Amino acid sequence: MSSKSETSHKIPSHIAIIMDGNGRWAESRGLDRTFGHQNGVESVREAIKGCRELGVKFLTLYAFSTENWNRPKDEVAFLMGLLVDAIHSEVPALIENDIRLETIGDISMLPEASKTALVEAKARTSNCASLQLNLALNYGSKHEIIQATKMLVEDTLSGKLLPSDIDEDVFSSYLFTKGIPDPEILIRTSNEMRLSNFLLWQLAYAELFFLPIFWPDFRKEHLMECVTDFQNRERRFGKTSHQINKENQ
Ligand code: IPE
Ligand code: IPE
Ligand code: MG
Repeated sequence: MSSKSETSHKIPSHIAIIMDGNGRWAESRGLDRTFGHQNGVESVREAIKGCRELGVKFLTLYAFSTENWNRPKDEVAFLMGLLVDAIHSEVPALIENDIRLETIGDISMLPEASKTALVEAKARTSNCASLQLNLALNYGSKHEIIQATKMLVEDTLSGKLLPSDIDEDVFSSYLFTKGIPDPEILIRTSNEMRLSNFLLWQLAYAELFFLPIFWPDFRKEHLMECVTDFQNRERRFGKTSHQINKENQ
């Protein structure tokens, strides 16, 4: 089988998305930023639908960063309320489509109503297995790496772990994404070309896609286009193109 036909059918196991541009989407229509957030929920459904159709196993969505607490209080409150509403309205569809909800980030800092809704939704979808939807909430990659380091040091001091045991796999197992393969694809909407403290460790070798559309305009077709593009990219992991072609022969 030629390398082309092998790679062209490769479905990524994990897609991560930075859902950006809600505010600008609304402002460009003369609307309040909150309309953008509200309309972004449909785009979340589209991304989920695309992943289910393709057979992607993990979808991680950046919903609220550790830096987003610095936004105006009423916008933060709106986002937390929207989270609760969206969970309540979407859980039946998650169950019906065999989708398990999980979170990454420190959710202990979220308002009580958000925490309760999340705990319930996680429990209700815990037996679903076709797709795992990870919502990144109060997530920051630097915070995650520091937390992991603290736990690693504690386990080393207590003798549970030897310094010589620490390798990339061990370090990864202290992150929120423990047990989840690294994303092969990162998509960011709104044409901003930065990672904004998202999955810095896990995205080390991801293929990056920066789309010139705002998140509320994101549809399943955009995801499909990224996956097709991904399938035509050569992932070399430090090797030469010649080596990759030979391996695939
Ligand atoms: C993304 O859209 C949603 C969150 C960060 C919660 P933004 O609200 O960042 O929209 P822009 O980037 O200001 O347009
Ligand atoms: C990143 O978007 C966080 C989320 C999408 C949740 P931001 O809009 O907060 O990112 P910056 O501040 O423009 O980099
Ligand atoms: Mg933004």
